[in-house]
Amino acid sequence: MYCTRKITDAVTWVGGCDRRLSLFENLFPVPSGVAYNSYLILDEKTALLDTVDSSISRQFLENVLHTLDSRPLDYLVINHMEPDHCANISELLLRFPGLKIVGNAKTLTFIRQFYDMDLEGRTITIKEKDTLPLGRHTLHFYLTPMVHWPEVMMTYEESENILFSADAFGCFGALNGNIFIDELDYTQDWLAEARRYYGNIVGKYGPQVQAALKKLSALEIAVVCPLHGPIWRSDIDLLLDIYARWSSYEPEEHTVALFYGSMYGDSENAVNILAAGLADAGIRKIAVYDISCTHISFLIAEVFRCSHLVLTAPTYNSGIYPAMLNFLHDMKALNLQNRTVALIENGSWAPASGRQMRTLLEEMKQMKILEPVVTIKSSLKEDSLDSLLQLKESLAASLRDGHSFQA
Ligand code: FEO
Repeated sequence: MYCTRKITDAVTWVGGCDRRLSLFENLFPVPSGVAYNSYLILDEKTALLDTVDSSISRQFLENVLHTLDSRPLDYLVINHMEPDHCANISELLLRFPGLKIVGNAKTLTFIRQFYDMDLEGRTITIKEKDTLPLGRHTLHFYLTPMVHWPEVMMTYEESENILFSADAFGCFGALNGNIFIDELDYTQDWLAEARRYYGNIVGKYGPQVQAALKKLSALEIAVVCPLHGPIWRSDIDLLLDIYARWSSYEPEEHTVALFYGSMYGDSENAVNILAAGLADAGIRKIAVYDISCTHISFLIAEVFRCSHLVLTAPTYNSGIYPAMLNFLHDMKALNLQNRTVALIENGSWAPASGRQMRTLLEEMKQMKILEPVVTIKSSLKEDSLDSLLQLKESLAASLRDGHSFQA
């Protein structure tokens, strides 16, 4: 049975949700599931904006057929040619002989790379700012490459000021009947997962997101329809502000998160003492993570949130404890920059993780490393405690300063 919701009289949400999926992209845990949004416009012509993942094809097709109410589908606009949105192209081509696929040159290249289907005479190739009239509605196309794939574009409907934004402004989490932002408590229930989605999936492409925001800035936008997560028909300034912050690698909050690897609890002990000392110094909202027990996607979300990071790692095989090494590599791959970082190393006979963490951080942009780097030999003793307390003072002073590092 169909399950749809109206966005406006002419535009219907025909997507669906998967609450069974364990790992999105076979990488990211999605404990609250994920939504695959698709939108159908009914006018003199009918147009579908993207399809959905294969896991919900049955629900999706029922939604589309019900909403069409026996009308043919004239256009399928593909804003993003990644399979979580494209599993139903061939099915739609078979069901609707007059259907035309609308995409840019790269979109059509990717369709042919992923699938074997006869597209002869079935495609419309668009370029930047091309338009597609549907009747009262007109679609305008804006190429937004590398947000987060090269073929990505956004579609703007001018009569109702609706932006179909592809993966931009998306979020992990299934939609629970309430598909609109004004029906949810976004800050309490959705912001953390939106940040985790952005940081891990789009985070590397900050400059390209900034270019897209600049391109869209001239448009009057009443509704933002992303491919994942809730639909924005209010508070759009908030959405644009938070994307501007994330994409410029500005910390979302002036606060500290402590990340540690600890084999036998001694490095963890040092982190707990540091966190307690910071609390005594008046620092609030301190976050602490055991990086061996926390999926890296949650750690990445936290580095996008926090201005100050404390990285604590044992020395392992003369290098950095593997979980921390992986975390640092991911930070670098995602272009993370502009943070203040404190370092604690542990090593029973040849501590080296501090120096090696510093080297990796120095390869990133605008990373300020606080002094001293604390060295623990096996477990915290009086001399290393002194060093830890000095680091606490440096951190507390920097946090009180209220400004993140700017080169
Ligand atoms: Fe939701 Fe980039 O696919």
